[in-house]
Amino acid sequence: MKAFAGESQANRRYLAFAAKAEKEGKANIARFFRAIAEAETIHALKHLEVAGGVASTQDNLAQAIEGEKHEYTEMYPEFIAVAKEEDQKQALRSLEYANEAEKVHGRIFAQLKARVDANEDASDEAIILCKVCGWVGQGAMPERCPICNSTSQVMVKF
Ligand SMILES: [Fe+2]
Ligand SMILES: [Fe+2]
Repeated sequence: MKAFAGESQANRRYLAFAAKAEKEGKANIARFFRAIAEAETIHALKHLEVAGGVASTQDNLAQAIEGEKHEYTEMYPEFIAVAKEEDQKQALRSLEYANEAEKVHGRIFAQLKARVDANEDASDEAIILCKVCGWVGQGAMPERCPICNSTSQVMVKF
């Protein structure tokens, strides 16, 4: 599970590094970062599988609900308190956006689990993601993000 954590982080770190390389006009360095990021994902997924980290969808949803709950009831509130204490405004914003988004994610996973418990799939309505704060919604595109107030221009559909 330590290897899973490390490879997962390497994946996101290399994607961030790829974006930076792109900004610096180093398109081929960016390409290498992206390819190796994908390799780290292969490692991460294999480690998780071998460690028995993937169960039935019903159990995975239960685990996802608990994970999100841990984040918005313990982890983020604690970090937010520290960011306030240290007057770290950027960190505070990043943490508060994530904290609010995790509550929404938790609610969505709970709704999905109820569907799976009833032996149903989720609805096929569009799923909308705010790329600024991580809010996720379903159905029609809102004019503004309910968490960060961004316009629909920063939202993507799944
Ligand atoms: Fe989340
Ligand atoms: Fe947002």
